[in-house]
Amino acid sequence: MPKFVLTGVGGGIGGIAADYALEIAKPDDKFVFTSTSLSKLPAGKVDGWKAKGVEVAEANYDDPASLAKVFEGADAVAFISTWALGQRPKQAANVIEAAKTAGVKRICYTSFIGAGLGNDSEEARQRDVATIPFLPQDHVKTERLIRASGLDWNIQRDYLYQDNCAAFFSQSWKYCGDRWLNNTHGKRGAYVAREDCGRVFGALLVGRAPPNTCYTITGPEAVTDRELFDYMNSVSGYKAEFVDWTDDELATWWRERGLPDDAINGDFSKLPMKLCIPDLLCCGQMVAEGHMEEVTDAVEKLTGRKPLGFKENFTKYEQLFPRND
Ligand SMILES: NC(=O)c1ccc[n+]([C@@H]2O[C@H](COP(=O)([O-])OP(=O)(O)OC[C@H]3O[C@@H](n4cnc5c(N)ncnc54)[C@H](OP(=O)(O)O)[C@@H]3O)[C@@H](O)[C@H]2O)c1
Repeated sequence: MPKFVLTGVGGGIGGIAADYALEIAKPDDKFVFTSTSLSKLPAGKVDGWKAKGVEVAEANYDDPASLAKVFEGADAVAFISTWALGQRPKQAANVIEAAKTAGVKRICYTSFIGAGLGNDSEEARQRDVATIPFLPQDHVKTERLIRASGLDWNIQRDYLYQDNCAAFFSQSWKYCGDRWLNNTHGKRGAYVAREDCGRVFGALLVGRAPPNTCYTITGPEAVTDRELFDYMNSVSGYKAEFVDWTDDELATWWRERGLPDDAINGDFSKLPMKLCIPDLLCCGQMVAEGHMEEVTDAVEKLTGRKPLGFKENFTKYEQLFPRND
């Protein structure tokens, strides 16, 4: 009876992965789902999983003892990158150590586009992580730990989510004077639906990919941010301007308004956007530098469903689209 442990089921990726893993499970598969806090899950969710035979528990990447308890006897464990920028490799090290101690055979991880810059060739593996763009840095370090662990592994490198544009960035446009202040310089990126990343994660956990493989998870087409912006505004009727700025211009504008450089200790309370400056800049840089140009067939290969396009995915966010006062 194979035993699969999925951590982080309270998050966007984790929640979808949980439901999809159950959907495609074999009859004798056994699942353990964990969250840092079961009380924050929607009412009925935990009971619904338990009714399907899932063991549900609390576990935290910062608390090795909690991991040891739930990893016991597992064939595969899946873990998700958190928002604790800079601390994620340490969290990954805790997961890997607990997995090895518990005799887990395989580990799955949600990495990020660009992690190959520090992993995909001998030269890349020698590269100083500080020379890699900000957002993939933690993922480069985490992938290096995974590959050195001696465990089997599956890694998915997610492109930036389509969902960020509809749910994060759009929330700052009114604050910016009815403008999307942007640094992608007209380059295209094959943004992916977070839902598809979650489904892929569920598929990896239950062994749909060969061990020790890494997949780049993309949407179905490469689009510009301006196309996303124009589409959203055509739906909402919002009159706004798309402004292409340099990284320096963007950083200066946001720093003057108090957007922090530090994701963990910064004060975001008076700001419309919870991304620190390096995170914000790097989202644009990943597109502008061409890291998201390629479209892959990984979503369809691993889930049997074509990746969602942004128009289809955005329907659930329409009430969030900004409107003129
Ligand atoms: N590709 C992109 O465009 C993009 C955009 C935003 C973020 N990300 C990254 O992708 C990750 C997953 O995305 P998401 O949308 O699912 O994020 P999310 O909804 O904010 O979920 C955060 C995840 O981190 C888990 N987590 C946080 N602290 C933890 C801890 N100490 N121990 C164990 N688990 C912990 C949460 O588990 P519980 O809720 O169960 O506690 C949850 O699964 C994010 O955390 C971030 O690193 C990627």
